[in-house]
Amino acid sequence: MAGGNGAAARLLLYFAGLLIVPLLVAGDDPYRFFTWTVTYGDIYPLGVKQQGILINNQFPGPQIEAVTNDNLIINVFNKLNEPFLLSWSGLQQRRNSFEDGVAGTTCPIPPGANFTYIMQAKDQIGTYYYFPSLAFHKAAGGFGGIRVLSRPQIPVPFPPPAADYTALIGDWYRANHTDLRYVLDSGKALGFPDGLLINGRGPNGYTFTVQPGKTYRFRITNVGLATSLNIRFQGHTMKLVEVEGSHTMQTTYSSLDVHLGQSYSVLLTADQPAFDYAIVVSTRFTTRILSTTAVLHYANSAGKAPGPLPGGPTIQIDWWNLTASGPRPNPQGSYHYGLVPVTRTIRLANSAPTINGKQRYAVNSVSYVSPDTPLKVADYYKIGGVFSVGTIADNPSYGGAYLQTSVMGASYRDYVEIVFENSEDVVQSWHIDGYAFWVVGMDGGKWSAASRQGYNLRDGVSRYTVQVYPRSWTAIYMPLDNVGMWNVRSESWARQYLGQQFYLRVWTPSTSLRDEFPIPKNALLCGRAAGRRTRPL
Ligand SMILES: *[C@@H]1O[C@H](CO)[C@@H](O)[C@H](O)[C@H]1NC(C)=O
Ligand SMILES: *[C@@H]1O[C@H](CO)[C@@H](O)[C@H](O)[C@H]1NC(C)=O
Ligand SMILES: *[C@@H]1O[C@H](CO)[C@@H](O)[C@H](O)[C@H]1NC(C)=O
Repeated sequence: MAGGNGAAARLLLYFAGLLIVPLLVAGDDPYRFFTWTVTYGDIYPLGVKQQGILINNQFPGPQIEAVTNDNLIINVFNKLNEPFLLSWSGLQQRRNSFEDGVAGTTCPIPPGANFTYIMQAKDQIGTYYYFPSLAFHKAAGGFGGIRVLSRPQIPVPFPPPAADYTALIGDWYRANHTDLRYVLDSGKALGFPDGLLINGRGPNGYTFTVQPGKTYRFRITNVGLATSLNIRFQGHTMKLVEVEGSHTMQTTYSSLDVHLGQSYSVLLTADQPAFDYAIVVSTRFTTRILSTTAVLHYANSAGKAPGPLPGGPTIQIDWWNLTASGPRPNPQGSYHYGLVPVTRTIRLANSAPTINGKQRYAVNSVSYVSPDTPLKVADYYKIGGVFSVGTIADNPSYGGAYLQTSVMGASYRDYVEIVFENSEDVVQSWHIDGYAFWVVGMDGGKWSAASRQGYNLRDGVSRYTVQVYPRSWTAIYMPLDNVGMWNVRSESWARQYLGQQFYLRVWTPSTSLRDEFPIPKNALLCGRAAGRRTRPL
């Protein structure tokens, strides 16, 4: 898409003006331009008409296909009657948290307005997704897949697949997002979902066609709101090859758990008699089990495959074999994450308190509330009174929970150990924007310093969303190499909406462009920053 003709060249010049800084940095990396219109529209995911959020009339939204280091210029026109933002789960927005598209970093796009995201898939490969981050919009759609392919000259540790398929799997509610929001705002818990979708469709509503003997890549992401899922292919196995931007040791699975917000790539070879097989997705860790199917259709299929549908695990914990999941080859070259001295330990305990008579969710006793101005924007203009650094502690106190705009301060170049401690009976899924991190340990019971003896410091997997099993803990190592304001959140969407999130402010006194970009010239300004200039001269 980069500059092949006059119009594209003019656009490029136009954006060069918009974006002097990234251009200097990005050099000749290609540009990909997208124009997206966000509207309400009728969808029938569970057979009944619902008002969904469409992007360019599609549900799920269009797929983003990019190559490492591509610049993604995405102009989003909001035709809803509510403010809207998209966020890009897994795109690291290096030095550029302004583009992250969550309430703490970016002003919402008002109804009838547009905003152009200017991002780069810097040094990244892998499977990601985008989603609407505000106001429980995610319950209405507005999400889609992102794939970042390796550059042609970079070897990938498996032969090119015959096709690259995306499977966005997730639970779904018949109630629309405004009704669900009303339930949450009135202090009640979100109920159990009504069904599961695969690429926006209900049972047998989506077909993946394969040619006999060929091998396919399936990129699987859990885009749902509330439940962990398991996926399996009738009569076939899956070879895991990628976890959220890391190529893995290639282990074969008959079924795979995908927790909220997580992404995996598996290879599947069409090596069975030519039939139509079921792809089964079912809920995990739920007393009632929902399931759905899509179709794996052999091009020369003789009809429905005989035999039962494959059963899956239900409530038992399937301890992730950390040793088996390590990156092969190490995408970070010779970087040995296990040998870097940890400079700070942060322990985060989730809870589900009642505050002022309402259901809330908290981390280290703080239930996050959004301020009137995005934190990053307030920080940039040094607008006081919006937030204070240090409003969430490094360790759980287990004291009474309270509402707060919680921001944790951290120093650029620190190397942190984060332990997610889950004493609840509910599986958790934690995501950190702006980063990938190494999962070093995961076990049942309570974490203690002695738990470190069991850490995998050799070949753990680097990813950006990690599960924490019921009454268990998960530990990660994370180099704080990306300056900015970064959302740390539960991927369980009611928990996120009702406060189980905070912001990590990774800060440096340096004002060098090598460390952080200034606010984008086209940034929308809102709240206490309304009326400021985006680039003071
Ligand atoms: C809105 O779209 C127009 C092009 O139609 C573009 O010139 C403008 O920069 C966009 N606004 C923002 C804030 O990105
Ligand atoms: C959601 O459904 C309610 C009725 O249950 C309706 O009043 C409301 O307009 C709907 N909202 C949207 C965005 O469709
Ligand atoms: C984990 O994977 C390694 C390497 O494949 C294997 O040797 C080991 O037995 C596995 N452990 C468990 C508990 O499955």
